[in-house]
Amino acid sequence: MNLEDEAATAAAGARLATVARPGDVITLSGPLGVGKTAFARGFIGALRHEGEVPSPSFSIVQPYEQLEPPVWHVDLYRLEDESELDELGLDSVADAVLLVEWPDRAGENAWPDALALALDFGEKGYRILTAKVPPSWEGRWPFP
Ligand SMILES: Nc1ncnc2c1ncn2[C@@H]1O[C@H](COP(=O)(O)OP(=O)(O)O)[C@@H](O)[C@H]1O
Ligand SMILES: [Mg+2]
Repeated sequence: MNLEDEAATAAAGARLATVARPGDVITLSGPLGVGKTAFARGFIGALRHEGEVPSPSFSIVQPYEQLEPPVWHVDLYRLEDESELDELGLDSVADAVLLVEWPDRAGENAWPDALALALDFGEKGYRILTAKVPPSWEGRWPFP
């Protein structure tokens, strides 16, 4: 999927929010500045979050408990060791959607059932979105 500008990337995130369910994990890979947080902002905004959606690159975890479904926005860029992952308590959030930037910091196979999205730089500001789709996402991605 080609995303022509930041608004298009946010719109893709917003569209994904309409098919997400509690317990889903969505990973967002790709280089710095490619639009992972922009995508997450669209997703969280579509669930009627009011207010800012700061990048969790410093906090690592930014929960949005009041949303339906609740969302935990996670950025593992600053994770120094896989063992730090346990301290974040991410496995205790079965009723929320996990949106994870820099999932590779957690190791190869931390979320085998995740919808694994990857963003890359295309020409003229475009971004290219690709997905690895597990069985639990069939019929939900690509967008119906
Ligand atoms: N097609 C696009 N999709 C998303 N962001 C874009 C696009 N074109 C330009 N941008 C810009 O790229 C930057 C993406 O930043 P951000 O979402 O924080 O990236 P990341 O979280 O991947 O590091 C923003 O400054 C945004 O305005
Ligand atoms: Mg980011």
